[in-house]
Amino acid sequence: MLIREANEHDIDQIMALEKTCFVNDAWSEEVMLSELEAEHTFYVVGFVGDNLVGYGGLSKLPGSHQADIQTIATAPAERGKGYGRAIMQALTAQAIKLGAEEIFLEVRADNKVAQKLYEVFGFKRIGVRKKYYQPDGVDAFVMQTSLVRQPLVLGIESSCDETGIGIVRGNQLLANVISSSMDKHAIFGGVVPEIAARAHLEALNPVLNEALDKAGVDLDEIDAIAVTNGPGLAGALMVGIGAAKALSVATGKPIYAVNHLVGHVAADILANGKVETPTIALLVSGGHTSLLLVRDLLKDVVLLGETIDDAAGEAFDKVARVLGLSYPGGPEIDRAAKDGSANAIRFPRGLTLPKDMQDHRYDFSFSGLKTAVARHVELGESKGEKLELADVAASFREAVVDVLVNKAVSACKEYGINRLLLGGGVVANARLREYATEHCEAEGIELRIPPLSLCTDNGAMIAVLASQLIAAGAIPSTLDFSAESTLDVRVVQS
Ligand code: KG4
Ligand code: ZN
Repeated sequence: MLIREANEHDIDQIMALEKTCFVNDAWSEEVMLSELEAEHTFYVVGFVGDNLVGYGGLSKLPGSHQADIQTIATAPAERGKGYGRAIMQALTAQAIKLGAEEIFLEVRADNKVAQKLYEVFGFKRIGVRKKYYQPDGVDAFVMQTSLVRQPLVLGIESSCDETGIGIVRGNQLLANVISSSMDKHAIFGGVVPEIAARAHLEALNPVLNEALDKAGVDLDEIDAIAVTNGPGLAGALMVGIGAAKALSVATGKPIYAVNHLVGHVAADILANGKVETPTIALLVSGGHTSLLLVRDLLKDVVLLGETIDDAAGEAFDKVARVLGLSYPGGPEIDRAAKDGSANAIRFPRGLTLPKDMQDHRYDFSFSGLKTAVARHVELGESKGEKLELADVAASFREAVVDVLVNKAVSACKEYGINRLLLGGGVVANARLREYATEHCEAEGIELRIPPLSLCTDNGAMIAVLASQLIAAGAIPSTLDFSAESTLDVRVVQS
């Protein structure tokens, strides 16, 4: 959708949409035109091709610190595509530009979808106007959001193969742009650090520009820069850190170096408004497999266990190679496993034997499993048997998921915590979601899974973590921090 400021030539299309969207209380063309052309208003239109799919407008009187959203409409056939959100973003950005410190709006009490959208933008209900909408006699909820004290934070993530730049205002997501170098690693069957670092260098500027564009803000409006400084691949981290430091120096804005793993936990703020603590968090990706006990996002995060060899996603990638599937292996194995039997082959469950429980209760190991799959395949080949791909994939997947979920649920029980948060790219796994849902339900544990775009590595989670630090009064990082490939999870900020 292309968004631009509205003008009088748009009036016919606007009026057609106005009448569709507000059947009983549409504005007249005269009212609409005078609002469009008024000095103190700002109206935007959103087009897909030649079709108007939405519009919205706000008013802001000179000298006043308040802006009012007067109307916002999306074509019924175009709802659910994020257009309403984009129009809100454009209006909010303009309100900020015009110096507004708060925005008000009225919304029909029976329009829950619109209310939800406004809540995402931080609007809260502050009053009711009885029977405001005539002739229906429906109440209006008055909603308000404050634009001050909520810092605009740009977050940069480059710890592995995703170049991610996210922009948040307070807890509100404005942009989350990701460029992955996954394709470039495909022929090697795994992430090659040097290639990842070079790809970050190439992707950073375009990703930055796209993120600023999506958020509708200029670089000089950003209040703070956040960056992942570990854990991750040193060379890859350095590219993001270099960029963040340069931006901080050039703009004069403070910098916050933050922990990638804690960032994964903070992603839940963007999905649900906050991270409910205490919680156990299971982070599973191509680069890490960590089980965390989070009592306080900023002050008390403990590593209960992690992989002692391959990461969960890495295990999927390596086993996929053994099975002749392409990279990344996770989605391929997930697909191949769909019609297979999870019980066909009993593959080993790493670090679950009584003797392991002493030292590795919450640690993971997938290299033995990987070897077992390879042996199984070799043995079958030597006997001239046909590879039962679906069964092997399903049985392997079950072995990984079984250990991940059971260790996470055990931690919940041991620490008396009835919440489990998932993060990382492996969260896309269908069986992991299913198994975790079943087990958590059976144990009375609330399972939280943010949308996948916030689970995989991204800059928005880094920005929102820094935003929490800023809100808590944390002092910015000094420019002498560096890439820490094995950064301790207890170090939220460097
Ligand atoms: O978090 P992520 O996008 O980035 C890095 O770790 O860099 O995770 C990517 C990892 C890959 O190893 C990929 O094979 C795995 O997540 N993955 C999956 C699935 N989709 C992606 N693993 C299992 N099942 C899936 N459906
Ligand atoms: Zn990650």
